[in-house]
Amino acid sequence: MEDLSLHILDIAENSINAGADNIEIKIIEDTNKDLLTIEITDDGKGMDNDVAQKTADPFYTSRTTRKVGLGLPMLQESTQMANGEMKITSELGVGTKVKATFQLSHIDRKPMGNMVDTIVALIARNSKININYLEEQNGKKFRFDTREIKSKYKGINFKLVETLSFIKKYIKENTVF
Ligand SMILES: Nc1ncnc2c1ncn2[C@@H]1O[C@H](COP(=O)(O)OP(=O)(O)OP(=O)(O)O)[C@@H](O)[C@H]1O
Ligand SMILES: [Mg+2]
Repeated sequence: MEDLSLHILDIAENSINAGADNIEIKIIEDTNKDLLTIEITDDGKGMDNDVAQKTADPFYTSRTTRKVGLGLPMLQESTQMANGEMKITSELGVGTKVKATFQLSHIDRKPMGNMVDTIVALIARNSKININYLEEQNGKKFRFDTREIKSKYKGINFKLVETLSFIKKYIKENTVF
């Protein structure tokens, strides 16, 4: 995977598969600490701790179509390449949090990539799931919350191309990255 936005899409797909109603995606860039932190939190079915720890193993998957799960091991590899780490905390019936850290300036740290397209793709795929997207760069923040949009614009249809291109434009204009 060439960039982090694709990892994020992949990890959020796990949340969708776990039946989440809400997914929070948080990206924090801190130049002083030379640290990039990505957190994806969901309220899906969760895993017991034992399973959660095994997910970093590429041979662990609950898939039945193939034998290996690659999403989490690949993210873990990307963090380790950039002097960081991946941590999974999960509780059965409550939800899951995947936290990935990277040394921001590390030569092997993958670029962020296109987060606008990732967020729009997630919204387009699953208009019922709430996406709460937060960005922070050296204290400067941007937040996009589909739940907020839904209550502000009653009856908004996230499946319409016009809505999606409006959202795309909005995030593009306001992103701090
Ligand atoms: N957010 C989550 N909630 C509940 N279970 C999860 C979550 N994320 C991962 N898992 C569990 O961990 C397993 C491994 O996830 P991983 O993304 O590494 O592989 P996969 O999703 O099975 O396959 P792939 O990502 O390669 O399509 C999943 O099959 C699932 O059982
Ligand atoms: Mg996966």
